[in-house]
Amino acid sequence: MDNSDLASRYPLVSDLAVRAKQRMPNFAWEYLDSGTGLETAIGRNRAALDSVLITPRFMRGELQPDLSTTLFGKKWQAPFGVAPIGLTGMMWPGGELMLAKAARDHGIAYCLSSFACEGPEAVGAVAGDHGWFQLYTMGDKTAEEDVLRRADASGFATLIVTVDVPVSSTRERQKKAGLGRRPAISLSQLAQLAMRPSWVVATARKGKPTLATVQKYYPGASMSQIGRLLDASKLGMTGIEDIKRIRKSWKKPLVIKGVMHPEDARLCLELGADGVVVSNHGARQLDAVPAAIDALPAIADAVGSKMAVLYDSGIRTGLDIARAIALGADFVLVGRPFIYGIATAGAEGGSHVANILSADLANNMVQIGVGTLAGLRDAEIVRAPVNEAWR
Ligand code: FNR
Repeated sequence: MDNSDLASRYPLVSDLAVRAKQRMPNFAWEYLDSGTGLETAIGRNRAALDSVLITPRFMRGELQPDLSTTLFGKKWQAPFGVAPIGLTGMMWPGGELMLAKAARDHGIAYCLSSFACEGPEAVGAVAGDHGWFQLYTMGDKTAEEDVLRRADASGFATLIVTVDVPVSSTRERQKKAGLGRRPAISLSQLAQLAMRPSWVVATARKGKPTLATVQKYYPGASMSQIGRLLDASKLGMTGIEDIKRIRKSWKKPLVIKGVMHPEDARLCLELGADGVVVSNHGARQLDAVPAAIDALPAIADAVGSKMAVLYDSGIRTGLDIARAIALGADFVLVGRPFIYGIATAGAEGGSHVANILSADLANNMVQIGVGTLAGLRDAEIVRAPVNEAWR
């Protein structure tokens, strides 16, 4: 499908989500779509973003929106990137390489998860200097050091350490769909696969997904065995000493992801981080977490003049990106939408999502009456609760 076909059939991220659900096996879809607990935080992220209103200004003549920005010494064509997503290649075979290439083509960042199905060596070669690498601190410090060495040697320019997964969360839908259950493929999953021929063919071509970054430290173990071993080994139970150690060994920009409190952001600054990602992990960890966008202004006030403030969780449109920037973000990460894109249309689908977000951001900048991202930061914000009847 070429770009104009994609644009007419799937003009919105929500259109891609509908199609992706039809093309992915149910266990993969539930892994992607799940929140945690009763899943109220997903709706809270959406409602809070919708409640951020921006008063437009007019009579500003011709505006040619400039989406470009500089972060960590590099110029980006747009102020957003692909968030780290574990098991991307399980959800759509070859997804990591497709998204790394799409990001490079669009001049945006691609962040590789340490739990993706491709390792830093393969993705670094495609992402070039558009690649960022995400790490969960590991119980096995020798393995962790080796992962960092590999990411560095593969050319990753920025390290993101995710601190908001101190323990796995309960994702009941995921469990019901059979993810991680033994045997690896149950009869009901086989029935699902029979109805998802494109995924089956793509998986057969690509081969069985593995956790390519960490597989090396668990020779012979299956993906779910590795998951259990990592869980038992204090994966993600990050402490101050961990950040100090990583800061010492990683010489390039270091960003801490999953920060929701201004005091935690100040701590990251004291520990020598170059940035934080304000995020509630796409509402996947704590169902009582505040909407991530509501945490952003106080964090931007606390540290925004001294370090980069990035934002993610719930971004579905270019307007959402404008909202986050207006509230103090320097840069935005986008998670699930990019997976909807590749599940719908393979490599072109990743590019299509970047196009949707860029075009919508540019259009809304003109609606608001600004030509630059700096102008967005000066825009007048009104907060008004969403009336569900308006949707
Ligand atoms: C994630 N996220 C995530 N974050 C991280 O630091 N490392 C990881 O391996 C993963 N894995 C992962 C898998 C899946 C399926 C999802 C949906 C999310 C969180 C991700 O980076 C980001 O914070 C959220 O996805 C942002 O929310 P949206 O854009 O998906 O609403």
